[in-house]
Amino acid sequence: MTMKPIQVGLLGIGTVGSGVFNVLQRNQDEISRRAGRGIEIAMVADLDVERAKSVVGSKVQVVNDARAVIANPDIDIVIELIGGYGVAKALVLEAIAAGKHVVTANKALLAVHGTEIFAAASAKGVMVAFEAAVAGGIPIIKALREGLTANRIQWIAGIINGTTNFILSEMRDKGLDFDVVLKEAQRLGYAEADPTFDIEGVDAAHKATIMSAIAFGIPVQFDKAYVEGITKLGAADIKYAEQLGYRIKLLGITKRAEKGIELRVHPSLVPSKRLIANVEGAMNAVVVQGDAVGTTLYYGKGAGSEPTASAVIADLVDIARLHTADPEHRVPHLAFQPHTLTDAMGALPVLPMSEVVTSYYLRLRVADQAGVLAKVTGLLAEAGVSIDAVLQREADEVGGEGSTQTDLIILTHDTREGTMDAVIAQMQALPTVLAPITRIRKEELN
Ligand code: HSE
Repeated sequence: MTMKPIQVGLLGIGTVGSGVFNVLQRNQDEISRRAGRGIEIAMVADLDVERAKSVVGSKVQVVNDARAVIANPDIDIVIELIGGYGVAKALVLEAIAAGKHVVTANKALLAVHGTEIFAAASAKGVMVAFEAAVAGGIPIIKALREGLTANRIQWIAGIINGTTNFILSEMRDKGLDFDVVLKEAQRLGYAEADPTFDIEGVDAAHKATIMSAIAFGIPVQFDKAYVEGITKLGAADIKYAEQLGYRIKLLGITKRAEKGIELRVHPSLVPSKRLIANVEGAMNAVVVQGDAVGTTLYYGKGAGSEPTASAVIADLVDIARLHTADPEHRVPHLAFQPHTLTDAMGALPVLPMSEVVTSYYLRLRVADQAGVLAKVTGLLAEAGVSIDAVLQREADEVGGEGSTQTDLIILTHDTREGTMDAVIAQMQALPTVLAPITRIRKEELN
């Protein structure tokens, strides 16, 4: 006996929603052979009803009120593609309360309110699926939650924001500063009119927060994440990094350390020879290090209509298969059984940035005179910070002919961030250090 198609209601039919509709249409035979039943978009809610109708045609009911979709007893699954924490949160909770499964691409919502949403879903016996929330079309949630389930995960490092990776690639390629490239990226449609969440690292931190919870079995804790974007990066640092054999990438990092979990987003120097250092343009990539599997790498499109739809539909298929299963037998939302998460949080707190241990790139604009290098390296030595490499440019090259200033670039070995903060403050106070010191963290990823 063939089962009746599962009925899906779509909230918001913009870029991703249209992709979901089109891919479901195009591949419906294969998808239903995999799912064991058809998957049918039965109802769409969008404020722009006419545009929605132009996408889905006359056979699908289109309304301008999302609550009409939630109230429809025939709908089994609600896809939320509205975004943000406001109305989207209310609608997701209402859909859960109405007994609907939810599929969402909303990383902000889950990173900030995930604990509340997953608890509501568990209490109601419905699923909240979110493959599209992290790295678009890359099935990284599936990989972490199921494929790597045997492993004790050690760390994850990802390029999980395409906008910033595009900007960094352009800065390196063309030797341009951030502001110039941002304007160009906006003109070409690679960056949004309000690019704040992307360029300040917030979008990447939402995604890193979700991966951290799944990797380590702790609740989502966006408020504990360290977030630093790319707005202060200069073309000079990208060039110096390259001369030292590194590229600068905005990485989302989460790591199991001795005393807890590191959860941070910031620009990082990565050795040029690592595969992830060569991920260019708007592409995404995630490296996962597990104790059994070793290093694995996932690469693909992190945004866009059909890549993101690919992830949304994978969730629809999962739900179509598990719909009738006993809730206890489903894969837990965050991979670990929910009652184990809060205990783990005590044992594995998210560490403050001062407790993070990493290595550093420092650039100091200094007076080009005798004894400056000795003073600077002396302060590092006193604090127990070990130097990996030093690069000093000719003053003429840095400041033009006859310049009396130069750039001093220092790479350090692993140091606690709190220690580094203190030494930087001491170096900054030297009269021969002429401008604010640039500090970029460095990740060897080996
Ligand atoms: N704005 C994101 C990016 C995609 O640039 O990667 C959606 O999270």
